[in-house]
Formats: sequence, structure tokens, C-alpha cells
Amino acid sequence: MALPEAWSDRFEQGLNPAIERFNASIGFDINLLQEDLDGSVAHARMLGACGVITLKEASELEAGLESIRAEAASGAFRPVIADEDVHFAVERRLISLLGPIGKKLHTGRSRNDQVGCDLRLWLRRRMDELDLEIHRLQISLLIQAENHHDTLIPGYTHLQRAQPICLAHHLIAYIEMLERDKKRFVDVKRRVNISPLGSAALAGTSVPIDRLHTARTLGFENIYRNSLDAVSDRDFAVEFAAAASLVMVHLSRLAEEVILWSSDEFSFVQLTDRCATGSSLMPQKKNPDVPELVRGKCGRVFGHLQGLLTMIKGLPLAYNKDFQEDKEALFDTVATLKASLEAMSILMEEGLEFSIDRLAAAVESDFSNATDVADYLVAKGIPFREAYQIVGGVVKRCIDEGILLRNLSIENWQQINPLFSEDIFEKLAPKQVVASRISEGGTGFERVHEQLRHWKSQLNETKKMS
Ligand code: ARG
Repeated sequence: MALPEAWSDRFEQGLNPAIERFNASIGFDINLLQEDLDGSVAHARMLGACGVITLKEASELEAGLESIRAEAASGAFRPVIADEDVHFAVERRLISLLGPIGKKLHTGRSRNDQVGCDLRLWLRRRMDELDLEIHRLQISLLIQAENHHDTLIPGYTHLQRAQPICLAHHLIAYIEMLERDKKRFVDVKRRVNISPLGSAALAGTSVPIDRLHTARTLGFENIYRNSLDAVSDRDFAVEFAAAASLVMVHLSRLAEEVILWSSDEFSFVQLTDRCATGSSLMPQKKNPDVPELVRGKCGRVFGHLQGLLTMIKGLPLAYNKDFQEDKEALFDTVATLKASLEAMSILMEEGLEFSIDRLAAAVESDFSNATDVADYLVAKGIPFREAYQIVGGVVKRCIDEGILLRNLSIENWQQINPLFSEDIFEKLAPKQVVASRISEGGTGFERVHEQLRHWKSQLNETKKMS
């Protein structure tokens, strides 16, 4: 069996084939190919600029790396298990293309700083794509909110009817969550965007390199100050997985609401055929598979966060092979999050029809205007706690009689308290109940319009910037 070329003469025997497969990461880290090529191009240019190799050699290395990129695009670059990982695969191909010059690329570098560099470049790009996906979902929510600026929906606490609210207000709450998610990614990106390159295996290098040169070429904001920290830091991966988990939490909460709303018990939305599936057995069924899958996919994303934390926690400085395990966790986190964001955007864009009549009936048929009766008495000078007690008694009486507050006559109201007059009926109407919530951030129509205006300009602005 052929000995791996990349290893030194210290090795006399090849790997056991099962161990070779066990050790290899090429099956998944081929995902980092573009970033590996970018990092190597930057490294070659720097070696040339610093006089470690000639400028001619540097440009030959760069041309060789670019032909590997072209081979990959055409499908001609096909690494094998014996290549072990993407870094060796590229280096071997480079040597077979260029001969001895190819052997100069790895000067002053180790796979340890190389893999850290690749992963950061990869994650930085994926975070930009995720930002666009989050933005798309925010826009889809905003469009639904604008369509429903005067639609009412029961608001819940403890999943018990609490007070009616504007449907737009409810949807905008998710736009807010997603905005925090975007900001968290921006913050995480500041720590992703630091170059470990030039830290070599762990201790730095005696080769006269220029770390700022490669950092600048690759668009890193800074370089790690400590080489040990540089090659053994995976905090950024954990931070990303944590931020991604929170996005999934938000998607899952929205998904859960859609699932509830589409049940016969709520019937607040109808799922359109574009986003619902049927049952293999029960012909009447239309299932909310999309939100259910999003909710279900939280498990793997939270799992990756836990996996990364556990993988790192016992590792002595500096690089350990355990780190190879970070890749699949990050790859799957990004893929799952992206797919979930896209699916939720489509669900918002074309998967839901709110049942306006059913929503209107829902807010008419309960005691969610009881607080407003108490507030009515407060406005007439009764202390809140006393008003609260009075209204509690009224609600009990109505429940016993099987009626709603609006079914009480004016005489009934005046017997309860002479402060009630005819205008109490207007106060009980759901539209009026919602309109009266005029405090900042409340569901009053004017306040909701303020929010709609804010998000319309905010989301247009950020779109222009990206
Ligand atoms: N495939 C390895 C990884 O993903 C690359 C770095 C290997 N470094 C080493 N010293 N074995 O972490």
C-alpha cells in the first residue's frame, strides 16, 4: 500500500484502511474547498511579498490553486479517502500540477491554523446568507401584518384568552425577535472575523511571514494575538450555534402558533395547498408539516450546540483532532437554519390564509374585554383593585347566566354600580378595546401603525445596505 506522501519519512507503514476511513474528514470538509483555496492564495501571495518565495513562484502557486478551483467547478477534482482532508487534497493536487514548486505552499503554515482560517471564512459567508434569509422572513411577516392592520385576534396568556389584540401587532413581535437575531449574528461575526493564519501548528513560525498581509487579503478585521489561542479557539463556533439556536427557538414558537391556529379547535388560519400535505389514510386531513418540521428541527440544532460545548470542554491546549468534529455540527446547523428560514418565509408568503370571519367571531365571544370594564371604573375614580373585584363578580354572574358582558342591560350595569352609563357598551366592543391600548408599544391601532411605519423604513434601509 502506498504511503501518504504528505507524511514524513518517519512513517514506514500505511494506515489500516478502517482507521484511514475513520480519520478522514474529506467526506465533509470538501465543503471548505473554496475557502481553503482562498486561504492558500492569500498565503502564497504573502510568502511572495515577504520574499520567502519568489514572486514568480507565488504567482505560479496562485495559478495552480485557481486551476484546482476550475477543476472543481467542472467536476474533475475528485479527492479520495487517502487524501484525508481538503487541505491535503488541495496540496497533493497542487504538487501533481506544479511539481516541486507546489511543495513550497505549506511553508510557515500548519493545517491547524489553516483549518481555523477556512472555517472562519466559510462561516462568515454563510452568516451573510443567513442574514438575507432572516430579512426575507421579516419582510414576509411585515406584508402579512400590513394586510391585517385592522384584523383582531384573541391575545393569550397561559394559552387562555386574555385580551384582544391587533393581528399585525402579534406578527410584528416576531419581526422584533428576528431583528435581535440579526444583531446577534453581527456581534458573533466580529469574533468569527479574526485571522488565526500564521500561528502555524501552535507556537508561531521562524519563517519571516506577515500575518497582517494574509488577514488583509482575506478581509479579516484583526489577527489573534496569541498563537495557542488562535489554533485552539472554537468559541466562535459555540457562539454561532447558540445564536442559531435562538433563531430556531423563534421559528419554532411561530411554527407552534401556526399549528395551533390551523387546528379545528382554533380555525384562525387555513393552510393553502402550496404548503400543506395530506394524510395517506384520512382523506379529510390537511397537515401542517412545514411548521411541524421546523419545530422538530430545533432538536438537531440545539444538539449541535451541546455537541460543540462537550467536544471542547476537556481539551488541553492547543489543537486536538477532536476539533475535526466541529465541522459537521456547523455545516448542519447552517443548512438546517437556512432551510427552516426559507420554509417559514414561504409559509408566510403563500401558505396561510387568515380566517377573518372566524377571528372576528372569536374576539366577540369571550370575556377578554373584562379589563376594560375595570379600566372604565378606574377612569371614574374607583381604585383599580376595587374595580377588579367588582368586575370579577360581574364575570361570574355572566358565566352563571350563560351570557357575555355586552348582554347585560344598562339597568343591570347601573345596579352593579351607578357610575356605569350607556357608553359602557361602546367600551366593550373589541375594536374599541384594542383601540384604547394607546400606551407606547401597545396594540392600539395608532401604535401598530407606528410600528408598521418603523419596520417598513427599517427593512427597506437594511436591504439597501446589503
Ligand atoms: N482535518 C483536520 C480538522 O478538521 C485538519 C487539521 C488537522 N491537523 C492535525 N494536526 N492533524 O481539524
